[in-house]
Amino acid sequence: MNVCVYPNGDLASAAAAMLIAGQVIDKPGSVLGLATGSTPLPIYRELIAMWHRGVIDFKNVTTYNLDEYVGLGPDHPCSYRRFMQENLFSHINVPQDSIHIPNGLAQDLDAECAAYDAAIAAAGQLDLQLLGLGANGHIGFNEPAAVFTTHSYCVKLSAQTLRDNRRFFEDGASMPSHALTMGIASIMQAKRIVLVATGGNKAAAVRAMVEGPVDPMAPASILQMHRHATILLDADAASLLSR
Ligand code: GLP
Repeated sequence: MNVCVYPNGDLASAAAAMLIAGQVIDKPGSVLGLATGSTPLPIYRELIAMWHRGVIDFKNVTTYNLDEYVGLGPDHPCSYRRFMQENLFSHINVPQDSIHIPNGLAQDLDAECAAYDAAIAAAGQLDLQLLGLGANGHIGFNEPAAVFTTHSYCVKLSAQTLRDNRRFFEDGASMPSHALTMGIASIMQAKRIVLVATGGNKAAAVRAMVEGPVDPMAPASILQMHRHATILLDADAASLLSR
């Protein structure tokens, strides 16, 4: 695990965008694993700017997102499909049929998850997975649990995640209690992982991820076992690291 600490989140985001751009320059047909939340937004803005400048081209790129809320369709304003469309896909030239996000409206959620993992495997696994970090240490929507999850599955969101993500839903709008997420094993099969965490509210989760034991109660700690994981932090997120 390579940990880089930057003075502020803008620099950590710029570094993440450079790693993703480098991946796409190196391998124009890259399979990218993408994330939602507020952390990736400046990264996506930077990638869009690089595409406009002609630095990178997404026409041969394939994308798989980490997760989606159960019950929200692509047009729902709070769905991750819509988030990705508005914040990245509609601004670059990745072909629509190269974009994959779990279908939160699937009749058979288990079959949807199995098909999602099978599609990633058929694509040759993810070349690079971008991750944010939940304040409770989750990656994707893999919540703290007694054991590490394996493959993609339907998860019941924790009380903390429901509180943390409430801000993305309008007042009074109902929020799904479940989500489909890539499992830990699915994420760990990515050839490269880039995790970005910014802000003091992530500091405890960062400490557990980097310095704690590998523990399913701190899901991101599994990244200590990945052979090519880069952790990009701002000073606030890194503030509880002792080593
Ligand atoms: C959600 C997503 C995660 C993301 C996390 C952190 O729960 N499922 O993939 O990492 O939020 O969000 P933020 O970047 O807004 O702090």
